[in-house]
Amino acid sequence: MPTDGPRGWGAPLHARVLDDARVGPGTTVLDLGCGTGEFAAAAVARGAVLTGIDRDPAAVATAAATVPSATFAVGDVHDPPPGRFDVVAAVQVLIHAANPLVVLRAAAARGVLVSVTTWGTEAECDVRAFGEALAPWLQPRRPPAGPPPVTDPDRLLQLARLAGLGEPVLAEVVCPFHYQDADALVAPLFETGIGRHAINRAGPGAVREAVLQRCAEFAQPDGSYVLHNRFRVLTGRGCRPG
Ligand SMILES: C[S@@+](CC[C@H](N)C(=O)[O-])C[C@H]1O[C@@H](n2cnc3c(N)ncnc32)[C@H](O)[C@@H]1O
Repeated sequence: MPTDGPRGWGAPLHARVLDDARVGPGTTVLDLGCGTGEFAAAAVARGAVLTGIDRDPAAVATAAATVPSATFAVGDVHDPPPGRFDVVAAVQVLIHAANPLVVLRAAAARGVLVSVTTWGTEAECDVRAFGEALAPWLQPRRPPAGPPPVTDPDRLLQLARLAGLGEPVLAEVVCPFHYQDADALVAPLFETGIGRHAINRAGPGAVREAVLQRCAEFAQPDGSYVLHNRFRVLTGRGCRPG
């Protein structure tokens, strides 16, 4: 997907993960790919004892400053720290992992419960409109080689089973992406690789116009834009409680 979304979009997704995993006071949580700590903050707000890892040192520093009561470290989700946790969460990280199966196996070895989230398919996410708007200036997309992506629910379930996760179940969460106005809608796209590529070819004015035209269907009477995107939460049983 071409954008990671406006600030705070993940709150409904985080709440669903925490609800489904019954995270409460004292629950130990390993947060794989913790980023700047938004999910970590939501977990700690429920009383979780949280450890987060991410390969990006700047993100880890921000997470540590934002959620001082949690423990954060630079690390790779393919090889997380040893130990046993009530819950291992991988929120919006699997799609970035070189080997999602290795990540899921590592999660299953460390978590009594494992919770993984992914984007839905392109057809289920309004943000596909950004890519569609920029398509005239991008290389034609080839069908991806290899197995289906983890955004394919059947593929995600298959990987979970291969990783040894017991009784995997999928839930769906729709997260509205709110942009307060046209500038807020367009500006983040200009910072992406495909946005910069399109601007180099057509100039910022033409790109902005194309995005606003494509997104007209999401415009609200107050000038804001709301794009609805579906996400999946896979929950499965990992290791035995210790
Ligand atoms: C889309 S962000 C999600 C951040 C956070 N989980 C959230 O939901 O707010 C993906 C994060 O995964 C991290 N990441 C990607 N591949 C990784 C890897 N192999 N090991 C550790 N972190 C990784 C990135 O640095 C980034 O912070």
